[in-house]
Amino acid sequence: MADSKINKNLPKNVGIIMDGNGRWALKNSMKISEGHEKGVNALKEIVKESVNQNINSLTVYAFSSENWKRPKAEVNAIKKLIVNAINEQVNELKNQKVKVRFFGNINDFGKTVIDKINFAERETNTKNTNLDLNVALSYGGKQDILNLVKKISSKVLTKEIKLNQITEKILHDESSVPVDEIDLLIRTGGDKRISNFLLYQIAYAEIMFIDKYWPDFSKNDFRKCLRDFEKIKRRFGKRV
Ligand code: IPE
Ligand code: IPE
Ligand code: MG
Repeated sequence: MADSKINKNLPKNVGIIMDGNGRWALKNSMKISEGHEKGVNALKEIVKESVNQNINSLTVYAFSSENWKRPKAEVNAIKKLIVNAINEQVNELKNQKVKVRFFGNINDFGKTVIDKINFAERETNTKNTNLDLNVALSYGGKQDILNLVKKISSKVLTKEIKLNQITEKILHDESSVPVDEIDLLIRTGGDKRISNFLLYQIAYAEIMFIDKYWPDFSKNDFRKCLRDFEKIKRRFGKRV
C-alpha cells in the first residue's frame, strides 16, 4: 500500500537542525563518528519521506562555522563521511529526482570534499525535481549576512546597482542560501536554540524543538511534525 500522504497546508520549505549525533553515540556506547554515520541514515529516511510528502525543499544543517572548533579527529571523520555518503547515495538521489545543493564555506573542506560535492551537484542537477535538498556545510547565519552585505555594498560602489534598488528579491538573489523562506524549522536533540543556522530565512518559520537525538528521528516523527504544522494558524501579522 502506498504511504499515506499529508496534503493540506504542507510546508513548502522545511529546515532541519540535525542535532544529537554525539549524545546518541554516547548513550549507545559508540564512537562519536558512528553517531554521525547513523545521522546520515536518518537523513536518508527524511529525504525519502520529504519526496513522498511533496515537500519542495529540505534544507539541513550538517556542519556549522563553529563546528570547526571540534576535535580534529571528529572533523576528519565528518569529511570522510560526506565523501562516503555522496558515493553511496548519489544514484538513489538521482532515482528519486532529488536535486542536491551544498552551501556555506565549502572551500574550507579541501579538494577531496569539494570535488565530491561538485560531483553530487552535477549528477543530481535535473530540471524536473521532486525535492531540492540543500545541505549547509561550514555555514553560519551571521557570516552569511555579513558576506551578503559586502557583496551588495561592492555592487553599489561599482554602480552596478543603486541603493534604492536593493530589495528583498536582490537579497535573495545574491544570497548563497538556495532557499528564500523556511516555513517549518525542526531542531532535534532537545536544545531550544538556532545555533547560527539560517537567520534571515526563518523570519516567519514555525519552529519545532524535538526531544530526540537526530539518529532516532524517524519518518513517523517527521510526519507528526507535518501534521502539527498543518494545524497551525499562520497569521503573518494579520487579524484572521
Ligand atoms: C549534530 O550532532 C551534528 C554536527 C554538529 C556535525 P552533534 O555532534 O552536535 O551531537 P551532540 O549535540 O553532541 O549530541
Ligand atoms: C548545530 O549543532 C549544528 C549542526 C547541527 C550542524 P551544534 O551541536 O553545533 O550546536 P550547539 O553547539 O549545541 O549550539
Ligand atoms: Mg550538538
